[in-house]
Amino acid sequence: MTPPYYSNLAEWTEFVPESEIRRLLLTRTKYYFGGGKPGSLPIDTFKRILYQIADELETDGIDVLNYGPTSGIPSLKKTLAQRVKEKDGVTLPKGADDILISTGSQQMLYGLLDVLLRPKDVIIMARPSYLGFVVPVTKLGGDVLTCPSDMDGLIPEYVERAIEISQKELNRTPKAIYVVSDSDNPKGTTLPEKRRKKLFELATQHEILLIEDSAYREIQFTTIPPAIKSYDKENEWVAYLRTSSKEAAVLRLGYSVLPEKIMVPMIKDKGYLDLCTSTLNQKILDIYYSKYIDQVLGDNLIVYKERRDMMQKTIDDFFPSEGLRTNPTGGFFFWYQLENGNFDSSKFLQDVAIPNDVLYVPGQAFYPIKGYSISSKDLKLHGNRIKTNGMRLSFSFTTPQEIAEGMEKLGKLLQKEV
Ligand SMILES: Cc1ncc(COP(=O)(O)O)c(C=O)c1O
Repeated sequence: MTPPYYSNLAEWTEFVPESEIRRLLLTRTKYYFGGGKPGSLPIDTFKRILYQIADELETDGIDVLNYGPTSGIPSLKKTLAQRVKEKDGVTLPKGADDILISTGSQQMLYGLLDVLLRPKDVIIMARPSYLGFVVPVTKLGGDVLTCPSDMDGLIPEYVERAIEISQKELNRTPKAIYVVSDSDNPKGTTLPEKRRKKLFELATQHEILLIEDSAYREIQFTTIPPAIKSYDKENEWVAYLRTSSKEAAVLRLGYSVLPEKIMVPMIKDKGYLDLCTSTLNQKILDIYYSKYIDQVLGDNLIVYKERRDMMQKTIDDFFPSEGLRTNPTGGFFFWYQLENGNFDSSKFLQDVAIPNDVLYVPGQAFYPIKGYSISSKDLKLHGNRIKTNGMRLSFSFTTPQEIAEGMEKLGKLLQKEV
């Protein structure tokens, strides 16, 4: 007999798909351009930090191995407040109290939506966008409204149009605009300064929260424009999300600067999500951010840049020239798309790439499962739009030699296909 709860689970379990990336992570291939895993980490530094922590356990073990405040331990919040102020020009009117520590920035993205969304609330974002944000919007009852993006990322003119259409045709002012301004996931694009300013202007003018997800802010090979958050002097319009996952280690720790109106319910939410983020991990990262990051991250950046350079060269040398690639100045990803809109990168992955030992993430994964879109052709409101002709290629985890071999292989397979 089947117990009734088996067939009676929450509705979302029926329409939310398994994450394409987590599914793909289970596939073993020799040439891995799949998930955005860090492939160069300051391991020796973390060894030193762990020895130091081991000593601290002698005296403070009961605190280090215990629960801590839901919003994060004060010393780490102070360290990070100082850092985002000095490095990113972020104003924190309440100092460390404007920082919220989370269990990964993924928890913060999910929690923000949990705090913001009423049924059918509209969230604006680029098409394609980070799937860890796209899918929870739908899961939590919101409506995704996507705008076209180009090789520089989200285009403010379409965002402006999306706000107008949402107000006129859906009778709703959007609740938030989501943007990954630095070396975006999945496209690897970095927003030019002019677009950043315009997006901030739109957010303030229409009183919409801007969620700036700066996961790759420290993984940069050139100087990039200021964070949008740096324009938000009153800490009112931008939720600024950062993570240690790319710039330190995947210890499941995110840190955000949040407007006060969001901070209070967000801490309430987090209290029910996890009580607190691991105190031990916060202690480890407090030492890393206060003593080591600026000394050691540069070595990792050299490794990533070499991989980026190799991937760029191999796309240019071997991929069909009728395709387009982005030009990442940092982060972990390239985006390549064939201009033939009929190309199905998901089918090509299953039928051709994986059997040839190559893995990437098909572009479809970064489109919403339902919702609305603004078309670049007629600037009108349409249903959900999914394009199948793109692919995300991650260079972070694979050596230059493997990139050279795997990308040549993939390029030649694509040449045959077109
Ligand atoms: C743009 C973006 N935001 C957020 C995350 C989540 O990162 P984490 O939960 O490890 O902090 C990722 C992870 O890949 C990402 O690419």
